[in-house]
Amino acid sequence: MLYEAANAKINLFLDVTGRRSDGYHELHSCMQTVDLCDTIRAEILPAKETTIRLTCSAGQLPVDERNLAYRAAALFLSEQKITDCDLRLHVEKRIPLSAGLGGGSADAAAVLRLLNRYYDSPLTEQQLCLMGAKLGADVPFCITGGTCRCEGVGEVLTPVSCLPDYSVVVAKDGDGVSTPQAFALLDEKYGDFSGYEPADPFAIYAALSGGDVRALSNSIFNVFEDVIFPIRPRANYIKDFLLSHGAICAQMSGSGPSVFGIFLSDARAGVCAAELRRQGIFAAACRTTERTKE
Ligand code: C5P
Repeated sequence: MLYEAANAKINLFLDVTGRRSDGYHELHSCMQTVDLCDTIRAEILPAKETTIRLTCSAGQLPVDERNLAYRAAALFLSEQKITDCDLRLHVEKRIPLSAGLGGGSADAAAVLRLLNRYYDSPLTEQQLCLMGAKLGADVPFCITGGTCRCEGVGEVLTPVSCLPDYSVVVAKDGDGVSTPQAFALLDEKYGDFSGYEPADPFAIYAALSGGDVRALSNSIFNVFEDVIFPIRPRANYIKDFLLSHGAICAQMSGSGPSVFGIFLSDARAGVCAAELRRQGIFAAACRTTERTKE
């Protein structure tokens, strides 16, 4: 049996810098891996022809081509011309769904890494990232992990000074947000973005390279907050709750509605997460990290 961790990500910075003619958005994002993760389990048996069977602990997720982990496996096997394996995959979900934490992309990335490892690493990490970009804009980052500046539609990665091992509380309440819906709300507000002034992305890198976690509070940014908070007011409530319970900064992640808070004390983070859970809200105390290696 093979195992691979699929880590969630948070966006320390997320802004739109333009809109392409195909409707996709050019982004500037600073992504950070956290150790909240799903686990991919795989069993690979010899067979006359290749079949993929996927199971998932979250009953509401499809287990066919609609699932990004399934598509990742199918893409790897077909591009590597592997025609003789019976692949049994299981995804143990811990990352909330449609939450802005990159759970689906993390699962797909972990499947690619796991299969590459099993078949003696025919692809470099860069080649795996190119394969991942065919599956979704956040998949390349989930392959690399750590702390990265992500540009293009999310697939152009530059590793940056990492946010060392800090305590993070990730929390989500109520319905998820679909990524296309969130981008459509931005389009409604900003049209083709020609008059939009992006936020300054460089303060965040100065804060990271100076190891100045307190300066993060003045430099984190997420363009989606303004369009998602009105339709998911619980996200705004969670942000205020985190800030009034010891977080040095708090912000929505991705297209929401998850919110994360960074804490200087593990104990405070643990108490805050427990208090949110008592209110019936999903909340996990975790840590910023490099990608978890199983
Ligand atoms: O790449 P991914 O499948 O995660 O994207 C989901 C949807 O989000 C896309 O179909 C597109 O509508 C939107 N999107 C976008 N610009 C990006 C990334 C995603 O408009 N950079």
